[in-house]
Amino acid sequence: MNQKFIDLRSDTVTKPSKAMRQAIAEAEVGDDVFEDDPTVKKLEEMVAELLGKEKALFVPSGTMANEVAIKSLTKPGDEVILEEDSHIYNYEVGAPSVLCGVQLNPLKGKRGVLTAQQILDHIRPEDIHVPPTTLICLENTHNRAGGTIYPLEEIKKIRGATKPFGIKIHLDGARLWNATIATGIPLDEYARHFDSVSVCLSKGLGAPIGSVISGTSDFIQITRRNRKMFGGGMRQVGIIAAAGIYAIENNFNRLIEDHRNAKALALGLSKIPKVSVDLESVQTNIVVTDIKESGMGVAETLEKLREKGVLAVPFGKTKIRCVTHLDVNRDDIYMALEVFQQVFANPSAD
Ligand SMILES: Cc1ncc(COP(=O)(O)O)c(C=O)c1O
Repeated sequence: MNQKFIDLRSDTVTKPSKAMRQAIAEAEVGDDVFEDDPTVKKLEEMVAELLGKEKALFVPSGTMANEVAIKSLTKPGDEVILEEDSHIYNYEVGAPSVLCGVQLNPLKGKRGVLTAQQILDHIRPEDIHVPPTTLICLENTHNRAGGTIYPLEEIKKIRGATKPFGIKIHLDGARLWNATIATGIPLDEYARHFDSVSVCLSKGLGAPIGSVISGTSDFIQITRRNRKMFGGGMRQVGIIAAAGIYAIENNFNRLIEDHRNAKALALGLSKIPKVSVDLESVQTNIVVTDIKESGMGVAETLEKLREKGVLAVPFGKTKIRCVTHLDVNRDDIYMALEVFQQVFANPSAD
């Protein structure tokens, strides 16, 4: 892209900074399938410690992190309970069924949050006719709900209520970093209530590639094998892990700026007539705007925004999603707001 856009499509669009590229260039490497890449090991140890888990494993993507976890924690024919707007249910190309052979039972949450009672109500009974419920997947923060934070108290209740059934819980924590920065609740305080936790390095933290899945040593041993089966065994991948280490060390605490920028954007958008934002759902770095009342279509709006230098993505039939990240600053947010105002002030003008 040559034109300078204010790119609010996702927090995955960030480009590695000069300093990150320097860390990549200087990384010590080895063959990680032989488990002798020192930089990968360092990253895995770092994330395991942050999450309070015995072990962690570097994988190429958030999708692979979720899918190897599901594969490791279930058997074909099992049932997995998750939220109906979750990333795993909507955007992982059916991998739980295709790659893991499990059936999904999606439940409707409120702003992405399922309650313990709701989950309890859907655990399958002991009956030869039904698939056994063996896994629950939660998402924190919740992407489709607009970056909402899972309340820790509800997580604890879910753990307490499902433990007697021997049900495991996986956390899709692609943006758990954001939840921690927004609430002050440490990563390990969230993670201790889960059997496995995935985190992404390539979203708000700004690394070019990579996610990490964590859990017990036994879980990671099985998951290493599943990663290989899914084609995720990588070689001199310390060059990428180095970017992940750099991202955690330098870009974790600054997520607060993205949250402030998202609030400023949400507030500005909510003041535009016929544009609405659920301000309560703007808890981290995602802003979902409903343009239904404006009478303009999503595709048309996105095109007009693009023409004026702002990029966002469609989010259902009447909504647009904007995400703040380390490559947009407050001035960009004010400029983007001006563009939104122009587009909605005069919908038919060029
Ligand atoms: C909540 C959540 N989980 C998982 C993923 C998948 O990550 P990746 O694109 O690295 O596969 C995403 C990507 O946006 C996400 O938002």
